Amino acid sequence: MNILVILAHPRVGSFNHGIAHGIAAALAEVGHRVTLRDLCAERFDPNFTDDELGRGNVAPPAIRDHADAVLAADGIVVVHPNWWGQPPAILKGWLDRVLRPGEAYRFGTNARGEGIVIGQLKARAALVVTTSNTPREAELERYGDPLDNLWKRCVWGFCGIDRVERINFEPVIGSSDQTRSTWLQQSTTRALALFPA
Ligand SMILES: Cc1cc2nc3c(=O)[nH]c(=O)nc-3n(C[C@H](O)[C@H](O)[C@H](O)COP(=O)(O)O)c2cc1C
Repeated sequence: MNILVILAHPRVGSFNHGIAHGIAAALAEVGHRVTLRDLCAERFDPNFTDDELGRGNVAPPAIRDHADAVLAADGIVVVHPNWWGQPPAILKGWLDRVLRPGEAYRFGTNARGEGIVIGQLKARAALVVTTSNTPREAELERYGDPLDNLWKRCVWGFCGIDRVERINFEPVIGSSDQTRSTWLQQSTTRALALFPA
C-alpha cells in the first residue's frame, strides 16, 4: 500500500518526530511504500490566498505535489501535538490548501434532491496520533476532545475515509523515557494493525 505520513512539529528530535519516524519505519519494514512529509522541515506555506479560493484555480506546484500525494495514498497517518485543542497552524493550512474541492471531496445531491458531501479520497483508513499535556479526564470533561471530532468527522470522514483511528498520548510533560518508549511501541502497533503487511 501507499502510505502517506504527515508530521507537523517544528522541533527536530521532538517526541512527535519519534512517533512519525517510528511509524514510517515500521510500515516500510513490512513492505508498504511510505512517504513521510515533515511540514515544518519543508517549510510548507499554510497561507491560503484569495487566488486559490477562486473556482477553477490551478494549484501552485508545492500544493499540487501534496494534493497528488494525498490522492495516491491508500492509507494516511497524521502526527501532531495538540495546540489549543487544534493542530498546529501549519497543518491547518495544509488541510485548507491540499484537500481541494473536486479532488478530496465534492458536493452532490441524494435521491431526495438534498445537498450531500461526497468524499472522494481512495484511502480507506487513516490513523491520527496526537500528543498533549492535559489529563484525559479533564480533556473530555472540560473541552470535549475537539481533535477527535475534527479528524474523524470534519476532515477524513468528510473526504470519504470510513475507518479513522486516533491515539492521544498524554501527559507528555514529565513523562519518563520508559513511558515514551511504551507509547512509541503502541503507536507502531496501532499503525501495523491498521495497515497490515
Ligand atoms: C502553542 C501550544 C499550545 C498548546 N495547547 C495545548 C492544549 O490545548 N492542550 C494540551 O493538552 N496541551 C497543549 N500544549 C502542549 C503540547 O500539546 C505538548 O507540549 C506536546 O504535545 C508535547 O509533545 P512534543 O514533546 O513532541 O512537543 C500546547 C503547547 C503549545 C506550544
